[in-house]
Amino acid sequence: MKSVLEFRARKGQAPISMVAAHTHWEARLIADSPVDCVLVGDSLATVIDGEPTTFSATPEIVARHVAAVARGLGDFSRRKLLIADFPFLAARKGLVSAVETATLLLRSGAHAVKIEGVDGHADVITHLVQSGVPVIGHLGLTPQAVHALGGYKVQGRDAATAAELLRQARALEAAGAFGIVLECVPDPLAREIGSAVRIPVIGIGAGSGCDGQVLVMADLLGLTPGHQPRFVRHFAACGDAARAGLAAYHTAVGERSFPSAKESYGLES
Ligand code: KIV
Repeated sequence: MKSVLEFRARKGQAPISMVAAHTHWEARLIADSPVDCVLVGDSLATVIDGEPTTFSATPEIVARHVAAVARGLGDFSRRKLLIADFPFLAARKGLVSAVETATLLLRSGAHAVKIEGVDGHADVITHLVQSGVPVIGHLGLTPQAVHALGGYKVQGRDAATAAELLRQARALEAAGAFGIVLECVPDPLAREIGSAVRIPVIGIGAGSGCDGQVLVMADLLGLTPGHQPRFVRHFAACGDAARAGLAAYHTAVGERSFPSAKESYGLES
């Protein structure tokens, strides 16, 4: 998938696979895969830097990771759709600041940006869209609002909060968003939201009824240690393979079986 036009056209067609990735080597692997599109999420703060929240991601830091991922995905015009996260409060500093952030992210190689929430910055989303910057929204568990939400919790379980999320999804569509990432909401609500809007809804912890799914690459590869949210599935056991590889390396160094003669240089060859 190369554009937001293709992304929108997939509504009601085949589900969209999106991967949140942050590094050049991840992008190289995604480029060789059938995965549809890539998000450079501000989850880089937690996944790469080990922070407890995403707050430390700045536009400059996200832009640096966007550039690394873009290089890994390859040639700009032929590469997969690449979306960059607007980090903490970047959509709340007025239109000029939002345009500057979008400029930085698109100049770094993104084709579109993702913005959490909608209330109070629908005008920013519309302004960017009208300026030619495609915007995807993010509702439900919005990690940048973790303190207001009282933690990383499922959203929209009661009628009032479910109605709020439905209203926000409609507001995002009205503001011009080309899609919505919907995080940690009950499956029936995700289906209701998906039916209420004409733009694709990409779920993460939002059940199988969404128009697509997104997972963080390190999670889906089984690289992240410790507690895993219920919605994470390990599609590969890379963590186990990495631990075994590190142990084997350590043993080989200790035994002097690494490097072998073939892995060493002689005086002449
Ligand atoms: O920052 C991120 O990676 C995200 C996805 C998990 C949706 O927002």
